[in-house]
Amino acid sequence: MRQLTFFKRDEPVIETKLHEDVLEIIIANAPVNALGAAVRSALAQAIDAAQEDDQVKVILLRGAGKLFSAGADITEFDQPPTGCALPAIIDTIEASSKPIVAAIHGTALGGGLELALGCHYRLATPSAKMGLPEVSLGILPGAGGTQRLPRLVGLDAALAMIVSGSPVDASSALAMGLVDRLVDEEDFPAAAIAYARILDAPRRTRDKQVAHDAGAFERFAAANARRIETLDAPKACIAAVKASVELPFDEGLALERKLFAELVTGAQAKALRHTFFAERAAGKIADLPADTPRRPIAKVGVIGAGTMGSGISMNFLSAGIGVTIVEMTSDALDRGVGLMRTNYEASARKGRLTNEQVEQAMNLLTPTLDFDGLGDCDLIIEAVYENMEVKKEIFARLDAIAKPGAILASNTSYLSIDEIASATNRPADVLGLHFFSPDNIMKLVEVVRGEATAEDVLATGMQLARSIGKVPVVARVCYGFIGNRMLIPRQDNAYAMLLEGATPEQIDRVHTDFGMPMGPLQMIDLAGVDIGWHRDTNRIESLQDALCAAGRWGQKTKAGFYDYDEKRKPTPSPAVAEIIAEFRDRAGIEARTISDEEIVARTLYTMVNEGAKLLEEGIAQRASDIDVVWLYGYGWPRHKGGPMFWADEIGLTTVVQGLERYADRLGGDFAITPRLAQQSVDDGSPGK
Ligand code: CAA
Repeated sequence: MRQLTFFKRDEPVIETKLHEDVLEIIIANAPVNALGAAVRSALAQAIDAAQEDDQVKVILLRGAGKLFSAGADITEFDQPPTGCALPAIIDTIEASSKPIVAAIHGTALGGGLELALGCHYRLATPSAKMGLPEVSLGILPGAGGTQRLPRLVGLDAALAMIVSGSPVDASSALAMGLVDRLVDEEDFPAAAIAYARILDAPRRTRDKQVAHDAGAFERFAAANARRIETLDAPKACIAAVKASVELPFDEGLALERKLFAELVTGAQAKALRHTFFAERAAGKIADLPADTPRRPIAKVGVIGAGTMGSGISMNFLSAGIGVTIVEMTSDALDRGVGLMRTNYEASARKGRLTNEQVEQAMNLLTPTLDFDGLGDCDLIIEAVYENMEVKKEIFARLDAIAKPGAILASNTSYLSIDEIASATNRPADVLGLHFFSPDNIMKLVEVVRGEATAEDVLATGMQLARSIGKVPVVARVCYGFIGNRMLIPRQDNAYAMLLEGATPEQIDRVHTDFGMPMGPLQMIDLAGVDIGWHRDTNRIESLQDALCAAGRWGQKTKAGFYDYDEKRKPTPSPAVAEIIAEFRDRAGIEARTISDEEIVARTLYTMVNEGAKLLEEGIAQRASDIDVVWLYGYGWPRHKGGPMFWADEIGLTTVVQGLERYADRLGGDFAITPRLAQQSVDDGSPGK
């Protein structure tokens, strides 16, 4: 067997192996075989060399390691284009007079799949996944994907894949004609080579026509209107796919290139690239070696079967991990277990789970009133209400019954993990695992690292959160950790502006127009206006007291800052307007007109300032971790990258000037944090 290797500095990026008349070209660029400049140039050389080599009858293209390829090297998008362009290589592949076969294992994504689409035949292992996720990076498939995929799989399937960005599995790919056949996993790549050997003629996707009916695009755009209304990339994807049916192939390609070039330099794509790398950076803890051992977690205990406790339990049950759930009374326990079953059955009705999966998950649950039942758990998560004394009492009891080495976690949203840990004789085994509500939508888990938390406990917490499909971000101890601490100035200012003359509708609209799923007051209504309320209806010292005393506790009482109907649809409330006016009079405040710009400064800029403080205090490791918290815990719009990225984009000078403009309304102890003030001097942004 003849072997050749094409190098990137001193590492191979493309290897070739000749098996009699079949030449394997292997992309070997760990970790994900990204198609960076060095790979592209080596690949182009290897393809050219194969064309010249008379011994080669068929070429088989595959990836080394775990996958085919994750596509273009995303880090290159921020740099000027260099070397051979991927579309040109794919055109050469398609034009080859010798058949070229893509053999896909693991994943083929983005430019990786587009490379395979340029090949004349495609094979895949049964576990392979294929997709064009470019839209989630704010771009479109820019290497022919929008023109070749519809020709291969038809318009509807191509639109769905390109606009959603979701991958398909191998059996769906086979059914839709994306791959020609599946090859045995164990016998890969030998089975693929054997199949390639029997092929004798190239087949070119570009020569196919796309069948379509006239209204297909309008129907698709209308059905997806809400999801894509503020986003540039999906609209461009639809326009490019439309070109695949309306224009000759080369003109369609040209349009795709033009749209790609426009999108890739745009603000949305920049923000989405930031989120891609921010998510991956969040998994890395600066002073924690990558090889830190993890403790095995086979059984989890949860204390408290309320909304949070049940939601947390379901995460583990769904991942096949047994859960013992403890409550104080059988009523509370039954309610919690009933809630879990209801939620699972609702998922089954929507087709997301089979009835069998529901039963499997529920069978992993052990409900009990006996605290000692937690004795054999490897991880125990306390999810009771926010009261330090109660939590300390629970942790002292846990200390007495948990097995040695068990990890003891609190789901507290605000309280000190260090103080909670001090109730045990094993503070090194204690950490915070702060899950977010609604648990099925919010993927964030703040992993709170106490002073004494052991390295392997922290590493286990991070890994475990990932294994149940969550996005973990590490935080140090402070009141509210990262997310909730940044909420404090936002919510305080929202309350204050209501008294000064803004309406709940105006404040919330500024946030929803920005792209948040809900505004500060809608969020309070969802969480409960009564959270943190002293519960004395005669003591009315704040607007919160006045609302709570009037029974306006939020969505749960169908009345909060808004009135809610049976379907929880909000409408502005005249009663609230009256309560606010009354309270305003009592406080001697005169109503004035509040501009949207003031709302932005007092709610969003104050959050950015708090984020900068978290960095100064070392509570958050890096600015991008704060962004991940807001993206996954509070629904910050992804195409705006997170609060810290957004602040950098609009310019820190703008933020500082906005805060200075309203400084006298931000409360006596408000201060612009030095980090922000200093950087605003340094970044030279023009300000507004
Ligand atoms: N470019 C550059 N770096 C990439 C990359 C890419 N396409 N894909 C992954 N990486 C990097 C990650 O940043 C990470 O780096 P660090 O270890 O330094 O953090 C490393 O590779 C491993 O990635 P993951 O941690 O994500 O590994 P995983 O095993 O969990 O997931 C994966 C693997 C499913 C392939 C995932 O990495 C992924 O989804 N990658 C992006 C795929 C994508 O969006 N491709 C489209 C690119 S755009 C394009 O191709 C445009 C075009 O039309 C030409």
